[in-house]
Order: sequence, then structure tokens, then C-alpha cells
Amino acid sequence: MGDVSAELSKRRERVDAALPLFLGHGVCAMPDRLRKAVEYSLTAGGKRMRPVVLLSAVALSGGDEEATLPFACAIEYIHTYSLIHDDLPAMDDDDFRRGRPTCHKAFDEATAILAGDALLTEAFRAMGESALAGREPGRALRALSMLARAAGASGMVGGQQLDVDAERTRPGEADVRAIHEGKTAALFSAAAGMGAILGGASEEAIDRMCGYGRALGLLFQVTDDILDETGSFEEMGKAVAKDRGRGKATWPVVYGIDASVARAGSLRDEALAGLVAFGPEAEALREIVRVVSVRRG
Ligand code: IPE
Ligand code: IPE
Ligand code: MG
Ligand code: MG
Ligand code: MG
Repeated sequence: MGDVSAELSKRRERVDAALPLFLGHGVCAMPDRLRKAVEYSLTAGGKRMRPVVLLSAVALSGGDEEATLPFACAIEYIHTYSLIHDDLPAMDDDDFRRGRPTCHKAFDEATAILAGDALLTEAFRAMGESALAGREPGRALRALSMLARAAGASGMVGGQQLDVDAERTRPGEADVRAIHEGKTAALFSAAAGMGAILGGASEEAIDRMCGYGRALGLLFQVTDDILDETGSFEEMGKAVAKDRGRGKATWPVVYGIDASVARAGSLRDEALAGLVAFGPEAEALREIVRVVSVRRG
């Protein structure tokens, strides 16, 4: 078994290098201000968790990571758009992201909205063009559809609506579960499932990967909620200690910190259990679970 953390760092670097490549017909074709805003948010140094999960699932399934980079970048474009819009004054009203002023603070609200729109649309163009040019258009279209469903009205966008709605009500247990499933687990599940599809995995393996991604995404969000209460600005690169005051439906607000830590432990076990059938080859995906469960940033 090789050094899995080096393997994950290599994937992250690969994604960083590829992110500018699949944007439009070269970023130069974009109006200058829009290009600057898109580049500003994309190069601010995110953890690249979703594309790294996708590429690790491709590798596990025996696929070609290089050929699937447009899909890895597409999921990061969609994630970055979701953060730009999440930070807007009409949503979470945040001033910092990835250690820098948020897109609407560095530019202006209209440009931030348009930068998000551009990233969302470019994601589908990049995947569509890859499907047309690639050797496995059927797999590519299936992966594209999976991401559309996960990012859309019954996935991430739907979860964001529930998250915003919960600020005006007294959120209950069912609310926080549905919010986490939609706003975060949907994209993680798609990242793992798309990797399996693109790598040519069996139907059974695709299902198992989706289950792994879902548990990992739920773990990721409960950890994010905990870190809002126990983390620091320096580590997180964004404001902390905000959710409770804003009436957000987070896991610690609804269940308390101890129950949240216990929930994180059981989700970690669930994610790892989803990998047992893959044997030692799934070590990179196991390492991602470990990284997420001890993360401070
Ligand atoms: C932040 O996601 C939004 C949540 C789902 C909690 P990340 O923590 O993956 O953000 P970056 O991409 O690393 O900045
Ligand atoms: C955002 O959740 C999830 C998205 C889909 C954007 P949060 O609102 O908790 O994310 P942070 O804390 O701002 O990163
Ligand atoms: Mg939010
Ligand atoms: Mg937020
Ligand atoms: Mg948060």
C-alpha cells in the first residue's frame, strides 16, 4: 500500500491545475470583471474534497483519472458557486470565505451572483463537451445527470432553501436531517457515485459508493456545524460562532454538542463500513473519512 496522503495531495494538486482549463473557451473570453471574480473564488484555496473523492472513486473503479478531470472540476465549480451564493447578504451574509473577503465583498453583489451563475453553467458545459469528445458518452451522460439531480432543486439547492426557511421557524429533528441530506450529502454522494460510474464500476459498486459518499457528506456537515461552535476563524477561514445566533438548524443547535460528536462518530463508522467490500484498494477513500473526522478547518 502506497502513501495514501501523498496520493490525495497529488489529486488535490491535479484539480488545482485543471480548474482554469475547463472554463469556457479559455477564461479570456469572459468579461474581465466576471473572469476576475470567478478566478478569485476558485483560486482561494478550497480543500477540494468533492473532486478528490470523485477522482479517488475513479481510481478505485479502474478508470482513467486524467480523462475524468472535467467532471472533477465541474463538481468543484458547482461547490464554489454554492459557497458564493451561500455567503450573499440575502443568505448567510458572510464576509470571509477561504480566508479572504467573500466574493460579494471583494467585488459587488451583482458580480458575485453572476460569478455563481457562470460557474454553475460552465460546469455543465465542461461535462457536456467531455461527453461529446470522450470514448464513453453513456457513462459521461449518466454522471452528468447524477450531478444535475444532486445539485438541483431536490438536492443542494433544495437543502439551501430548507436551511434558509429554518431561520424563520423553530427547527426540529426532521428539518436538520433534511437540510444536511440536501445541502451537503447530495453533492458528496454524487462525487463518489460519479467516480464509480465514470470508472466503469458495477451497479452494485455504484450504489455502495453513493452510500459511502452520503455518509461522508453527513459527517462533513455535522463536523462543520460543530466547528462553527468550537473552531476558530484562523483554522476555518470563515466566521465561526454565528449559526446559533442566526437561528440556523444545525446539529448542535437541535441536539447539543455531545450528541453531535456521537453522531459524527457513527457517521464515520458508516462511511468506513461502506468501503469494506472494496478491500485494501479503498485506502484513499478511508483516509478521506479520517481526515474529515479530525478536521479543524
Ligand atoms: C463548505 O465546504 C460548505 C459546507 C458544506 C460545510 P468546504 O468546507 O468543503 O469548503 P472549501 O471548499 O474547503 O472552502
Ligand atoms: C453551506 O452550508 C452548504 C452549501 C451548500 C453551500 P453552511 O452555510 O453551513 O456552510 P458555511 O459554514 O457557510 O461554509
Ligand atoms: Mg448556509
Ligand atoms: Mg454559510
Ligand atoms: Mg457552516
